[in-house]
Amino acid sequence: MIVLLLVDQANAIAKEGKQILFIPEDLDHFRKMTTGQIVIMGRKTFENTGKLPNRTNIVLTSNPLDEEEDLYFVKTLEELFSLLEDVDSEKKVFCIGGVTLIQSLWGCLDSAYLTRVHTIIEGADRFIPDLQKEGDWILEKETPLTQKPYKSTIEYWRRKKVTE
Ligand SMILES: NC(=O)c1ccc[n+]([C@@H]2O[C@H](COP(=O)([O-])OP(=O)(O)OC[C@H]3O[C@@H](n4cnc5c(N)ncnc54)[C@H](OP(=O)(O)O)[C@@H]3O)[C@@H](O)[C@H]2O)c1
Repeated sequence: MIVLLLVDQANAIAKEGKQILFIPEDLDHFRKMTTGQIVIMGRKTFENTGKLPNRTNIVLTSNPLDEEEDLYFVKTLEELFSLLEDVDSEKKVFCIGGVTLIQSLWGCLDSAYLTRVHTIIEGADRFIPDLQKEGDWILEKETPLTQKPYKSTIEYWRRKKVTE
């Protein structure tokens, strides 16, 4: 499973219930990476994004809404993994946040695309772990984006295999 997020230099992803900021190039990157694939999100993130078009959307929540085409609700990780077995196995599976869901799925993540914005968002209140400090992640690639409105870089991290 791949995690895909925009973070600041302190690994913040959200402030007062909203993503810390939006960068057009990051939105393009997000769309290119996830179109045609599977996106998994927590209920609070779903409330912000709604159903993303041209993707299989799966939402974790204790209060499922009515399902529709390409929109599924699951109450537990067991239900999530069962559903993933039923959907197209050729598709990539992206965990797109938020922090609560990422914490639940932490052990299942094998790679991460972090759009790192080179700033600190004052008052941010939701953070992911620092992959550098976790010890079992390797920063494989860094791709700079244009420098507006902030200097930012797409970091590609891969979790070490047990044999490495
Ligand atoms: N920077 C970024 O790239 C980025 C990306 C995504 C989100 N965000 C931001 O992150 C914030 C939301 O993050 P969050 O951590 O507060 O919420 P979240 O993970 O999006 O949603 C939390 C909710 O998801 C459900 N959930 C999560 N894990 C579950 C599990 N293992 N089993 C069952 N249900 C589970 C629960 O829903 P119920 O309460 O319904 O049971 C839980 O209250 C928003 O501000 C959003 O804008 C930022």
